[in-house]
Amino acid sequence: MTDSIKYVLDETHIPKYWYNLMADLPSPPPPVLHPGTLQPIGPDDLAPLFPMALIMQEVTTEREVQIPEPVRQVYRQWRPSPLYRARRLEKALDTPARIYYKYEGVSPAGSHKPNTAVPQAFYNMEAGIKKISTETGAGQWGSSLAFAGALFGIDVQVFMVRVSFNQKPYRRALMETYGARCIASPSMETDVGRMILAATPDSNGSLGIAISEAVEVAAKNDDTKYALGSVLNHVLLHQTVIGQEAIKQLEMANDYPDVVVGCTGGGSNFSGIAFPFIGAQLRGGKKVKVIAIEPAACPSLTRGKYAYDFGDTGHLTPLVKMHTLGSTFIPPGFHAGGLRYHGMAPLLSHVKELGLIEAKAYHQITCFEAGVFFARTEGIVPAPEANHAIKGTIDEALKCKEEGVSRAILFNLCGHGHFDMQAYTDYFAGKLVDQQYDEQELAMALSGLPSVKAA
Ligand SMILES: Cc1ncc(COP(=O)(O)O)c(C=O)c1O
Repeated sequence: MTDSIKYVLDETHIPKYWYNLMADLPSPPPPVLHPGTLQPIGPDDLAPLFPMALIMQEVTTEREVQIPEPVRQVYRQWRPSPLYRARRLEKALDTPARIYYKYEGVSPAGSHKPNTAVPQAFYNMEAGIKKISTETGAGQWGSSLAFAGALFGIDVQVFMVRVSFNQKPYRRALMETYGARCIASPSMETDVGRMILAATPDSNGSLGIAISEAVEVAAKNDDTKYALGSVLNHVLLHQTVIGQEAIKQLEMANDYPDVVVGCTGGGSNFSGIAFPFIGAQLRGGKKVKVIAIEPAACPSLTRGKYAYDFGDTGHLTPLVKMHTLGSTFIPPGFHAGGLRYHGMAPLLSHVKELGLIEAKAYHQITCFEAGVFFARTEGIVPAPEANHAIKGTIDEALKCKEEGVSRAILFNLCGHGHFDMQAYTDYFAGKLVDQQYDEQELAMALSGLPSVKAA
């Protein structure tokens, strides 16, 4: 063991391949279905929305998918991201645990999202696409795609969930700085948006609604494709640079995690750090306890049903089997906007069904408390989403203390919170509440799940 604080790799260590967990799983995830025929969809069904290179990545079972050199060139701006040993946090907790965190806040947009925004924009550019529509929750994804669009000459239009649009005006300004257009969702610009506003004029919006708006724009305009910042296989694939780098950095530290922790909205940053470790385990390596942390007000993995459902509220997407709260479920407007999604990535849901990960849910106040404790020891102010991972990590570290054992805990600090200071201000003013979702609304949303015979 060394006494280093940070483990830094040079640019030559940026992975050359994305790691595809599909190659090592004992069984494949259930197929994606066409909502009309209930038959598995093929690449052509997705062609109006995505360039073919990304569609092929969606279905590939090859273990390694080569990262195009122009994408690696852009990654060089912030990758490999640092791995830190949280020595001051360990001391403050008085724990024998060895806590490490991979810090993705060093990217231009401030989170892990550019890891997939850059390749998505690149493949669209290669296919001759000039416009992309997308949604954003916290604004991290919208900023990331706006940044990537600027690099590859693509116009980006972002539907931002209204509650976050109001909470974070500077995220919108950042998107505009990169040259994108940002619209509060639900909006009057789409059929879905107009329908929802007619029924609920003061709607907070949700990721499910914003996805519908962005998909509608792409489906109706031949010159526009759609991009998703999480959930899909190719997004999870692109994020595996995080875990691959972490494995090398932990080698520098002569260590290997016993526990891996991440927060889950649609599942991409968590999968990015966890899948390379789960894959190593499936190939005969050390068993790792992998814990997904989600918000108690939108608990898809811990309270959702594993069932076929739409990926969006307006029912424009294919049916995917995932842990879902129902596509019409609108979570309360808590501050971790990136975690307000009704479903979970189908691949990650399958991994959960295989028993390869655990999931836990926490309310927001205890997560902010953990985030502030982290900021006061390690100095970095985390994104509200990342506070969930920190809370999960601190609980694991305190368990080590109780049991008197030293375990290595690795977590993904997936973004900084510099655009989220209003949330921290509200927390200090005692204005945050632990919102409960409406049980009746959940029951209704779940009862509306599409009926698909056991697949
Ligand atoms: C900082 C941050 N963390 C986490 C998430 C959740 O997404 P995912 O589960 O795909 O990582 C988001 C989504 O917007 C985010 O901005």
